[in-house]
Amino acid sequence: MESQDKQVTGYLLFSLATAVIGSLQFGYNTGVINAPEMKLKSFFNVTWYKRYNEDIDPGVCTIVWSVAVSIFSVGGMVGSFSVGVIANRFGRRRSMILVNCLAVIGGLLMGFSTICSSYEMVIAGRLVIGLFCGLFTGLTPMYVGEVSPTPLRGAFGTLHQLGVVVGILIAQIFGLEALLGSDDLWPLLLALTVAPAILQCILLPFCPESPRFLLINLKQEEEARNVLVRLRGSEDVRKDLQEMKEESDKMAMEKKVTIAELFRTAAYRQPLLIAVMLQLSQQLSGINAVFYYSTGIFSSAGVQQPIYATIGAGVVNTIFTVVSLFLVEKAGRRTLHLLGLGGMAVSALLMTVSLLLDNIPGMSYVAILAVMLFVAMFELGPGPIPWFIVAELFSQGPRPAAMALAGCCNWTANFLVGMSFPTLQGWLGPWVFLIFTGLLIVFFIFTFIKVPETKGKTFDEIARGFSSGAPPPSSSTQDPPASASTAVTLPASPVKE
Ligand code: GLC
Repeated sequence: MESQDKQVTGYLLFSLATAVIGSLQFGYNTGVINAPEMKLKSFFNVTWYKRYNEDIDPGVCTIVWSVAVSIFSVGGMVGSFSVGVIANRFGRRRSMILVNCLAVIGGLLMGFSTICSSYEMVIAGRLVIGLFCGLFTGLTPMYVGEVSPTPLRGAFGTLHQLGVVVGILIAQIFGLEALLGSDDLWPLLLALTVAPAILQCILLPFCPESPRFLLINLKQEEEARNVLVRLRGSEDVRKDLQEMKEESDKMAMEKKVTIAELFRTAAYRQPLLIAVMLQLSQQLSGINAVFYYSTGIFSSAGVQQPIYATIGAGVVNTIFTVVSLFLVEKAGRRTLHLLGLGGMAVSALLMTVSLLLDNIPGMSYVAILAVMLFVAMFELGPGPIPWFIVAELFSQGPRPAAMALAGCCNWTANFLVGMSFPTLQGWLGPWVFLIFTGLLIVFFIFTFIKVPETKGKTFDEIARGFSSGAPPPSSSTQDPPASASTAVTLPASPVKE
């Protein structure tokens, strides 16, 4: 039995790499809008002039710009919220293929915006791309969690975040004026997201459907077995199958799990609170204040070439995600999350000091160091862990609904930080990062008290840990009929292909 524990085959790696293209897309579209800010604003002005024969009002221009930036998160909220229905209706693999259509539509809308002289197309494109990314922030971790062998679920779970950070870094580099961030090429920079979408659609048919989906949702045991044999590279997949069957039996009792039922069912309350708090800890740590506005932060700290410091932050971001990938199965999720949150709180304090004392020579280096440390600590735990731990905290029945809810909280918090940071910075000046220090301390305490270690445990063991040995009670015996609920309803009976 032990022999099947750590099997990594080329086929598994190929499937994971294909799924992670979705994460790369999320990162790319998060990072891409930063560099061409001025180009976009001047495009808005030129278009306005063509239409109305006058310059755009600077206030209106700022509004159009902020809408173009933040509508991405609005799309993300809707997309992440819909992931449960789509993943169960079409299956994990087919959902990924279908969702890529959104990237093509969004990319083309943005790419042709200058030719059509329409800034509305940039806004519409960002909304569609947000929807696409929101769906993938659920689909990728779900698929990765469901195909990975238990002992490596954390390490592979980190691959989603690795995809995100590499995507951000590529966007930062391609966004340089000398590459695609120029006056003429920025529409191409925004449209480039179409290429990985097409690549993923070509590769996905060669990847398997999630064996858990095949067995638990579709009741296709033979197909699930075949997929497992190929993924694990061994005929002996009894342990995996056994684990899935146990989950399947439990799911038969759980019947429908709607988002409303997640709240009502006592056994889900604890993991749900943890899932939501971990997502909030990721976003309210202030990480995107750095990723959206780092160039501005560096300039106010007196850094001469802020764009390169920003790219430096992207590099540190990537390196530490790799560090986390190797540590997560050894040190455990809980320890790394605590270490990350604590380290970020200290770095935020250091950042505040460096911004306050910016007249002292050499302080700009302290500011750079503080930002790098902040980003490094984020990637140790709070970056990767919340994305995959939700898939671990719930069994197959409630998993899609839980991921939808957690993802939506993540995107909402992302939107709030993105929208409010410039205003907060205006009010508080150099003190602004102290807000994040305070929040980080709260999340540290919460994690210390409430978050269990999930390393090396099967999905079922984790779920049983929350319900003290008893499977979560059947929702049908506890709650009113699911039809009375307005939330997303997941199919109770197997979905037929
Ligand atoms: C996480 C966050 C995302 C952030 C990124 C930075 O994936 O969800 O919002 O931009 O990390 O690396």
